[in-house]
Amino acid sequence: MASGNGSNLQALIDAGKSGNLGGCVELVISGSIESHALLRAEKSDIDSLYVRSMVRDGGTVLEELKKKKIGLVVLAGYMDILGSDFVEAYRGRIINIHPSLIPSFSGMGYYGQKVHSAVIERGVKLTGATVHFVDEGADTGPIIIQKPVTVEDKDTPETIGKKVLEVEHEIIVEAVRLYCKGKLDLSKGRVEILS
Ligand code: GRF
Repeated sequence: MASGNGSNLQALIDAGKSGNLGGCVELVISGSIESHALLRAEKSDIDSLYVRSMVRDGGTVLEELKKKKIGLVVLAGYMDILGSDFVEAYRGRIINIHPSLIPSFSGMGYYGQKVHSAVIERGVKLTGATVHFVDEGADTGPIIIQKPVTVEDKDTPETIGKKVLEVEHEIIVEAVRLYCKGKLDLSKGRVEILS
């Protein structure tokens, strides 16, 4: 599910095609009709769906996911809150990518470039990206992978955003790969990566 440029989606599409993911992108859902993610889906011959509001259309989306036997939902820049019916139906099978080291700069109000501006304003020296399972809260679910990015004095929100995005592409693919290979154990309420 991607509503923006869709570069994380592209990383997953490419990894799926390379055969190293253990799965592939079957459906792209966007909350914006202008999303580049929809074009990326079209280019790769992947079915896509535009939904105006996840909360309202949760039922329709769930039906579509079931019809296509979707095993894992990846929120890759999907700018909408999932309804609790959706989270419940796919508990432990929805992951999100966030452009900071959660719990820093996470939750409502921290999205996109705002995160990196806040990082600069606070004088933070280390930021990064997090992939986590989704629960009912905003960025509160069990953390799967985090990777740090060093903030230098010369950095701007834009340059940090670029560095963090590169790291996002790596860890989103790695998290999906681990999921597809059955390596993510959630039985203790936090994620343990099985060897
Ligand atoms: C990423 O920074 C992601 O963490 C955030 O939105 C951005 C999406 O980038 N949630 P892209 O659309 O995958 O290029």
